[in-house]
Amino acid sequence: MSAQPQTATEGRYPVTGAGLGLRLELIDEMRVDPPTQVDFIEVAPENWIGVGGSRGKALRHFTERYPLVCHGLSLSVGGPAPLDDAFLAALKRFLDTHGARAYTEHLSYCGDFGQLYDLMPIPFTEDAVHYVAARIRHVQDVLERRIGMENVSTYAAPAGELTEIEFLNAVVDEADCGLHLDINNIFVNSRNHGLDAAAYLDGIPAPRILYAHIAGHFREHDDLRIDTHGEDILPEVWDLLDAAYARYGVFPTLLERDYNIPPLAELLEEVDEIVARQRRWQAAEGSHVA
Ligand SMILES: [Fe+2]
Repeated sequence: MSAQPQTATEGRYPVTGAGLGLRLELIDEMRVDPPTQVDFIEVAPENWIGVGGSRGKALRHFTERYPLVCHGLSLSVGGPAPLDDAFLAALKRFLDTHGARAYTEHLSYCGDFGQLYDLMPIPFTEDAVHYVAARIRHVQDVLERRIGMENVSTYAAPAGELTEIEFLNAVVDEADCGLHLDINNIFVNSRNHGLDAAAYLDGIPAPRILYAHIAGHFREHDDLRIDTHGEDILPEVWDLLDAAYARYGVFPTLLERDYNIPPLAELLEEVDEIVARQRRWQAAEGSHVA
């Protein structure tokens, strides 16, 4: 963990500093040479619930050494199928067992009674706000904790009555849940839908932030960005992270990388970049206070 604690985020957030997703491809290297710049780790609980043996022990090794946050894949909070209470019970046991500091999901849906393994856009309507908020409240009741919802990247915008940012605010207010802010997804949607990323950032329910994601995406065209998590982070997305820190102060931020995973040392350069930007803005905040 960082030799210098990220004190500016202590207390307000469930974790602090810079995070990295724990992936099977990285586990051996991270065990031999634990990265000191990583303050917290993230896993998708669906990939680990019920996993025993050497992999289960490996997970325990890391969750005993790093604060853990969980980012789910299959809740389908906006979907038509009933929520899976058996899954939620198993999820609660997993979160409790590993002392997870936060559980977040996507503000989207990923199937009906089947599983599409994709994140589909919820129509931005008042009815959908009430429907999704009620389901989030149910999840929070079963898990006995507040959860976080992540703004997702989309490629189509179903007809709706609200803007994306209005929908996001309405859902988290009515559900009284946290916000899992994804900086890259704001940028991707700004290009895909012609939105103003800075205006979006101005409108987020910032006091509800639990932590943030930053990631790389694929530039198919200037107005078609694919949220692959398989590329290096683009300068414009780093700039948006800076704009968010400038607007709201430093918050915990995790590097998402799911495909084209480079050697650990290369990946850690982007974690180092998060840390450097956090320290820069913390120093600026300190100078304002002084
Ligand atoms: Fe994300």
